[in-house]
Amino acid sequence: PLARPVAAIPDGSIAALRRQAAECRACDLWEHATQTVFGAGSAKARVVLVGEQAGDREDIEGRPFVGPAGTLLRGVLEEVGIDTAEVYVTNAVKHFRFEQRGKVRLHKRANAAQQAACRQWLAAELDRIRPRQVVCLGALAAQNVFGNDFRLTAQRGRWQELAGARGMATWHPSAVLRAPGDRRQALHDDLRADLALVAEAMA
Ligand code: URA
Repeated sequence: PLARPVAAIPDGSIAALRRQAAECRACDLWEHATQTVFGAGSAKARVVLVGEQAGDREDIEGRPFVGPAGTLLRGVLEEVGIDTAEVYVTNAVKHFRFEQRGKVRLHKRANAAQQAACRQWLAAELDRIRPRQVVCLGALAAQNVFGNDFRLTAQRGRWQELAGARGMATWHPSAVLRAPGDRRQALHDDLRADLALVAEAMA
């Protein structure tokens, strides 16, 4: 399902890809966003974590998962014994999409065309890094990696075949943060259990 890197993206290091992605005009999201939020972390990482799309804080700082979802994610990674220095973190959609409401920029999900336009960058990152494990956080990330038929509720926490790697999808940390009461604890526990499987596979 994941598109191969298109010919327009020349071979190059992750740093070179990042520079090219900064100029990306493959969809319209660049017009209102502050900057492209490219992946971050070791180019030699054995694990790549794929988020959904850059949020408000990420748009301003230019790095993925710098907001509350990132804090929760790093906490769980630490709990299960995954060293964040050993992972590469990125997003399926590398620009923030929002609706301006007064002073507030309300997060808006990237549409299918915007997701498709961005897929070449994720494909290129995976092609350069060649990780052993790809962990998708949330349904948008999972569908961009495993295809539109992927159902997070049914397939969460199970290894999927992926060219040259194993893939898995789990809850997005923002979904944990948004969930009410008891449900929040249950999702947090699921996320921890799924990432523990990843830690086990890394050992
Ligand atoms: N949510 C995401 O999916 N990605 C980020 O980088 C931040 C929040």
